[in-house]
Order: sequence, then C-alpha cells, then structure tokens
Amino acid sequence: MKSGVDLQRAAMAEICSTRDDWSFHVTSDPLTRFLRDRRLRTALRMLRVRGLLDPARQSVLIVCGGVGGEGVFLSRYGFKDITVSDLSEEALAVCRGLEPTLRTMSLNAENMAGIPDSSYDLVLVQDGLHHLPRPVLGFTEMLRVARTAVIVIEPHDGLVGRAIGTEWERHGDVVNYVFRWNRSILNQATRSYLLCKRAIVLPHRMWDHNVVVGKLARRFPERWRLTVAKTVYRVLRPVNRAGNMMVAVVVKPDGDTTRGSGL
Ligand SMILES: C[S@@+](CC[C@H](N)C(=O)[O-])C[C@H]1O[C@@H](n2cnc3c(N)ncnc32)[C@H](O)[C@@H]1O
Repeated sequence: MKSGVDLQRAAMAEICSTRDDWSFHVTSDPLTRFLRDRRLRTALRMLRVRGLLDPARQSVLIVCGGVGGEGVFLSRYGFKDITVSDLSEEALAVCRGLEPTLRTMSLNAENMAGIPDSSYDLVLVQDGLHHLPRPVLGFTEMLRVARTAVIVIEPHDGLVGRAIGTEWERHGDVVNYVFRWNRSILNQATRSYLLCKRAIVLPHRMWDHNVVVGKLARRFPERWRLTVAKTVYRVLRPVNRAGNMMVAVVVKPDGDTTRGSGL
C-alpha cells in the first residue's frame, strides 16, 4: 500500500505535468496580490510588532512550499536568504523557473533529520501541514529547525469550517484529510515538544476565502476590484473570531531551549 506521503508526491507530479500556467504566483495584478499575500502579510506583521522581523538578515525555510508562491512573496518583501522546500522535485523545478534566485530543497516535512536544530531564523508553512499524514510531527520538526519563530498558516477548526469546509481533499485518486488547528492544539503541540513555558504561541484567527471573494470582485469594473475585496474582508473583521483560517506565529525562547532546558 502506498503511504500518504507517496500519494502526495504522485499528486504533485501529476499537477505539475498537467498545469503550465503558474503566473498567478508572480503576477503584479493588485487583486491577485492582495488575495494571495494577505495571510503572509498578517504573519509578518505579527513578527514585526514584536520586533522579530529583519528580512535583510533573517534566513527562512519554507516547508511544503510547492512551486514557490511564498518564496516569491518573501523575496519581493526583501528577504535575501530563502529556501523553498517540498516533497515534489517537479514542483521545485517549476519554482526555480519562476524565480531563479530562490534556493530549493527536496524535503519531507515529516522528517527533516538532515537539518540540524535551529538552522533557520524563520520556518514557514502555508496550506501544507494538512497534506501530511502526521501534521503535528511536521509542525514539531519546524519548531526544531527554527531559531526564532515558526509561522503556520493552516485551516482553523470551528463550526463554520466543519460545516462548509472540505474535510477530505481529493485530487484524482489521491485523498488527504484536512487537519484543522486551533489555539489549544497549537499550544499543546508547542509546549509538549519544546518543554518550555516561555515559548510564545500566537494563533490569529481570520476569514479567508479567496476563490469566492475573487469571483465576487471580478464582477466589478477593474478599478473597483481591489476595493471590493478589501471591503469584504474588512466587513468580516469583527467576526474574525469565528474565521476559517489560522495565521499563527510561535516564538521560541531566547537560545535553543529545545528538549527541556528552558523550563
Ligand atoms: C496545497 S500545496 C501548497 C503549496 C504552497 N504552500 C502554496 O500555498 O502555494 C501543498 C504542497 O505540500 C507538498 N507536500 C505534501 N506532502 C508533503 C510532505 N510530506 N513533505 C513536504 N511537502 C509535502 C505538496 O507537494 C504540495 O506542493
């Protein structure tokens, strides 16, 4: 029987061989950029207000980075030392084609044994952990190899997400269970791994439905589209606490206290 990891590898190879337009990752269309970059900008803001953002100096590892959407964004944001990792060699080849300055690395997010502890200042995943058979293991591996902080952008558990969200994601014969996070899971996974009270766990819940919002905005004349999309999310802001998406930052305590020395 093929493992969930093998199935994911095969699914991405198939997607890369059948899709030839990845330009939405590099477009400068304001609506697409707003929709695609919003969650990443939220995460970086959470680091910036805590004085933990220094793009010119910080190294970043992107996990489950696919064809490099997050890498392109971070590069344009000013980060200089970016590594995009993914299980799929095919996806990484597309990534190098889109943005040749990005470093790429073939990596199973559940097993980063080849990477020493605290190797990267920031370690980021977006829409990736829920493709793993063992999402919490992927997360704790991220914590291990991060020096300063981990950014996790994944579906948030909740009534609305469960009612209208996808529980089983299918691509052809490949299926994966959409693991949804919340404050408690994030907190427990962090503390049980780091064994440290001083780790800062910051889950931010928000609404994110780019397909629906994008479709709605594109019904309007071009000059209004960005305003429409921004307005939709602004209207939803007061009820972000019921949102379907988690943008979380976990800050490791000063020094490497992994495995217990920081209690
Ligand atoms: C939905 S895509 C997200 C890609 C990218 N983060 C984005 O939002 O554009 C999920 C990615 O996870 C990768 N993936 C699935 N299982 C993985 C694993 N065990 N280790 C590393 N990457 C994996 C897939 O190859 C795919 O590129």
